[in-house]
Amino acid sequence: MARQQQFIDEIKELNYQREIMTAKKKLYYLATFGCQMNEHDSEKLAGMLAEMGYAETDNMNGSDLIIYNTCCVRENAELKVYGHLGPLKHLKKENPDLVIAVCGCMMQQPEVVEHIKKTYRHVDLIFGTHNLYKFPELLYNAMGSQSTVIDVWDCEGQIAENVAIVRKDGVKAWVTVMYGCNNFCSYCIVPYVRGRERSRTMDNILEEVRMLGCQGFKEITLLGQNVNSYGKDIGDGTSFAGLIREVNKVPEIERIRFTTSHPKDLSDELIYAIRDCEKVCEHLHLPFQAGSTRILKMMNRKYTKEDYINLASKIKENIPDITLTTDIIVGFPGETEEDFLDTLDILEKVRFDNAFTFLYSKRTGTPAAKMEQQVPEEVKKDRFQRLLATQNRISKELNDMFLGKVVEVLVEGVSKTNDEILTGRTRGNKVVNFKGDSTLIGQLVNVKIDTVKTWSLEGNVVK
Ligand code: 5AD
Ligand code: SF4
Repeated sequence: MARQQQFIDEIKELNYQREIMTAKKKLYYLATFGCQMNEHDSEKLAGMLAEMGYAETDNMNGSDLIIYNTCCVRENAELKVYGHLGPLKHLKKENPDLVIAVCGCMMQQPEVVEHIKKTYRHVDLIFGTHNLYKFPELLYNAMGSQSTVIDVWDCEGQIAENVAIVRKDGVKAWVTVMYGCNNFCSYCIVPYVRGRERSRTMDNILEEVRMLGCQGFKEITLLGQNVNSYGKDIGDGTSFAGLIREVNKVPEIERIRFTTSHPKDLSDELIYAIRDCEKVCEHLHLPFQAGSTRILKMMNRKYTKEDYINLASKIKENIPDITLTTDIIVGFPGETEEDFLDTLDILEKVRFDNAFTFLYSKRTGTPAAKMEQQVPEEVKKDRFQRLLATQNRISKELNDMFLGKVVEVLVEGVSKTNDEILTGRTRGNKVVNFKGDSTLIGQLVNVKIDTVKTWSLEGNVVK
């Protein structure tokens, strides 16, 4: 980290000199694709950039640095990035000093790096997920280089602590508890691009949470690809349930969330910790991916349809107010109509508040990409529509139960479309919109619900 600090100081000095000459701060434009992990990585990039004297802009035309932090979990996420990179050629022509960088999960695939090198020669810097902390050094090198600087590690290094982070939200903060994934679900590219599971120490996590509490953050979300296996690699009995019991003691924090949980690793100990810890919100995101036990086996998920339904029942028995959300893939290779009906059956039996639904996307390098009987696109799309219709009905039915009820809302901000409307979430993660002024942001208020929609609730503040 000391080495990176030297590069931060060098770039800061260069930027300062230029600022004096032009009376203009250097600007960066940062676009992020993908999951909360990537969003959080972008907060780290923003933190380092702030230290180097850059300011953010949402207009790439006038910027000095453009960064795409990419995702490769589905093909369309990759195609979007390529779609953005092409037109940047003109910007680079207009301003040869412009630095164009691409980083994140896509770059961990050698064929992607090759493609970018060949097709988008105006890209100045390519780096991956494992060496994000080296960004100051890589940027410094790219600023003075005629050719593309490429630094992608195929192995995970040590966890870099103390990277500066700029969090845009002042109320909610993400805290990474572990990196990587060991599960190798057969459709998923994540273990190949994010590496093996590595847990941060409990001390480092708690120190960060305490600091966030002191800075005024009210809600934290503990992040990991599979938080339930937190601590297993430390090997001294450290567990995720133990961690959240400790986080629960941090005084200023009002709410604790976490994501994502794998059904095979969700322990009773964790269910009891959610039940017992008053700050841990009653919300569990528990992807089931597919309903058919046959497909689950091919997906390498290590549970059956019945296991999942029983687990959901156990959770509901112990935590009656729990909001359950999930991820579902339709059209995994070999999925028949009968298999798909099992997916609909789980929806009806478990009744999730919300589901993130995806069309299966073939990812080169994963076992499922080589499986025969890939499902035709129109069949996938038809199933997807039926899945959505079922889930929308259930989401609305569950939301209807809030009509006339008073819910506790953490006020997050002003609505994007109407500045007289505030927006926040219940402990169960339901979005609530209501009239109020911005002094309430960051506070817990009670709202009586008078209007129910499929994706949100509306109401008025009550004492
Ligand atoms: N195709 C479609 N969806 C996928 N996901 C992961 N890999 C794929 C893929 N190849 C989904 C899973 C996961 C979510 C983050 O993305 O549902 O839980
Ligand atoms: Fe991918 Fe499975 Fe790991 Fe989730 S648990 S990141 S779906 S391999």
